[in-house]
Parts: sequence; C-alpha cells; structure tokens
Amino acid sequence: TCSSSWSRPVDATGSGERRRVAAVKPPLWLLAELTYRCPLHCAFCSNPVDYTRYGNELGTHEWVRVFREARAMGAVQLGFSGGEPLVREDLEELVAAAHELGFYTNLITSGVGLAPQRAQALKKAGLDHIQLSFQDSSRELNDFLSSTRTFDLKQRVARTIKDLGYPMVLNCVMHRYNLPHVGRIIEMAESMEADFLELANVQYYGWAWRNREMLMPSRAALATAEAVVEAHRPRLAGRMKILWVVPDYAEAKPKPCMAGWGSVFLVVAPDGVALPCHSARMLPGLDFPSVREHTIGSIWHDSPAFRAYRGTGWMSSTCASCDDREKDHGGCRCQAFLLTGDATATDPVCPKSPRHAEVQAMVAAAADVRDIGGAPIRFVPGARRSGDLVFRT
Ligand code: FES
Repeated sequence: TCSSSWSRPVDATGSGERRRVAAVKPPLWLLAELTYRCPLHCAFCSNPVDYTRYGNELGTHEWVRVFREARAMGAVQLGFSGGEPLVREDLEELVAAAHELGFYTNLITSGVGLAPQRAQALKKAGLDHIQLSFQDSSRELNDFLSSTRTFDLKQRVARTIKDLGYPMVLNCVMHRYNLPHVGRIIEMAESMEADFLELANVQYYGWAWRNREMLMPSRAALATAEAVVEAHRPRLAGRMKILWVVPDYAEAKPKPCMAGWGSVFLVVAPDGVALPCHSARMLPGLDFPSVREHTIGSIWHDSPAFRAYRGTGWMSSTCASCDDREKDHGGCRCQAFLLTGDATATDPVCPKSPRHAEVQAMVAAAADVRDIGGAPIRFVPGARRSGDLVFRT
C-alpha cells in the first residue's frame, strides 16, 4: 500500500505535487505515549488491542533525545499521554527536560496517581497544561465504563488542578451510554469551575472499534445531545467553552485526520516506534521506524511509512479528483483500512466513497441505550465484560 519510495516521491499529479511533497514542514505536535500501562480499563480506549506486545518502554534518556531532536526540527507542543503517563516514575524529569527545551507541555491523564504532592512537583518541573478525563457525570456509569472506582478520585484531582492555578480542562468521551447525560456532564463541569469542556464523541479505533456496535449512538440520541449542548452555550459564554466533537460516522464529510498524514503530528509509541497517528501501527505493508534506530529527522523526512500517505500522490481517483483533497486529505487512513481493508481507499465516511452506504447503515442500525437488546448491561465496576461490551485489559 505504500505509494512512495524512500528516495523519490511518486508524482501522481504532476510537478506541483512533487513540489508539495518535497516541501515537508516539520512536525509541530509531538505526542509522547509514554506507556500503554493504565490503571483504567475503558471500553472505548484507543490504544491497540494487542498493546501488551509493545511493553519495551523507552527509558528517560531515550525520551529526552526524542524531545531534543523534535524540538530542534521546530516542534512546539508536547503531549504526555499513554496509557496513563503518571505511572511513569520519571514523568517529572521528562516534563522538566521538555520545559527546558521550550516545549508547551500538556499532560493527558485519567487523574489516577495525581496526588497533590505529585501535581506540585509537575508544576515545579514546568508542566503547562493538564487535561483530565471523565467518563460520566454519575459515579455508577463513570466507574462502570472505566471498570474502576475512580469517580470520587477524579473530583479530588480536579480540585488539585484548580488549586494549582491551571486552567481546568475536562474531557469526556461521548457514546451511546452517556449521551443522554450530556446536560448533567456540562453541569458537573460547571460546578468544578471548568474553563474548557471537550465532549468528544468516540472514534472507533482500538478497543472502541471492538465495541463499536455497543458504543454507537442513534442519530436521534446525537441530535438530542447536540441540542442540549447548544442550549447551555449562551449561559456559559465567557466562563466555560464547550467543544462538541461530532462522531465521524454521523458527519457529512470526512475529518482531515491528523491534519494530514505526516504533516503536523508525530506520535512516538511507548516502545519507540514513530507513528503519524496513534492507530497507524495496525496498517499493513508499512514498516514504522523506531526512534531507537533512527533520528526524528530521518523518520519524518525519509521513512517510507511517513511518506506513504503524505500529500495527494497516493490517492485513489475518487480523492485525487475531489476539490476538497487538500482540506480533508482523503479522511482517515486507519478508518479507511478498518472499514474497507484498504488504507488507500477513500474514507467511507465520505459520501463519495463507494462504501459510504455501509457507514450510513451502521449509524441507522444503532439503537438508543434503552433499546439495546441481547445480554443485559449490568453496571458492575471491575467487570471485564458486560453483555457484548469488552473492557480494555
Ligand atoms: Fe490513523 Fe486517522 S487515525 S490516519
């Protein structure tokens, strides 16, 4: 599926395309997936389902070298993610190194492990921003969906974040189960004095892909939830911003995934494998390079994997002839592969895709939460399975 070579990009559309591919900008956003280890077991986790195969984590010095090289290329933002990055005992050291290099640093966390002392140490190390995830406004559903008892802990962590003077940034992944609670989730965020609430409808990768039939909301549930969000906005103006991320499958157009493959984002997985997005490792035919063997510069500019879907030269005629090809970049390569078995296919979320009807049929078949048939869902925290819902191990 790789349509460009290490030495010479394929020129599918003429010299203009050759120039665009040649003028590759550096990565601006480095996502350091420090570990796949996580105390939570969320049913919608985007980590690979076979993540235990990639347990050979980079050491502190290796990470710092990655940061240094990415920064030297021009990267400005560094996200610490996982898994749960707080399970890394060297997180403070990594944050300090990133801060010294001049990165804007962001911790993406479930909050588990963020005791006040640790939060203070991270602040002292120069951490700029913390994004705290919630699963729901109710203890019952929060603890069920993460398969842990963490609801109360998250409330305490939110207080700690606020006390340290950080902007309060909450994130809640939305799906069939918690969409009916969206109003209460907004009110909860408000009572926690959140400055920013991200309501991100679930994207179907990793564990969420495995659970997609169970997680997918009906169009009616989505429309109702969106109306609730819109009704809250005027009241919250100037106090709390709400970002409502529409689910892909229900969108009229495909998303410009990662702002284009190998264009802005560079993900480094816990074992040092460099990826253009967090899901790309499952794509066949691509040999993703490791930072243990290559510099960030050569990975970004020269590796076949990062060049494979960069620009427009790889596109099928459907995408290559589309006026939006520079805007949506043909949608998401991982989604195209998961839905069609071909990573070069037009993302089936796009109405121009010959497989679009299948996505529409999936959305149409999604039932409201009260109508879910089959084995009854029991909200049991700690369960590994409930009905057909499988929790991350
Ligand atoms: Fe991999 Fe979209 S998630 S390209």
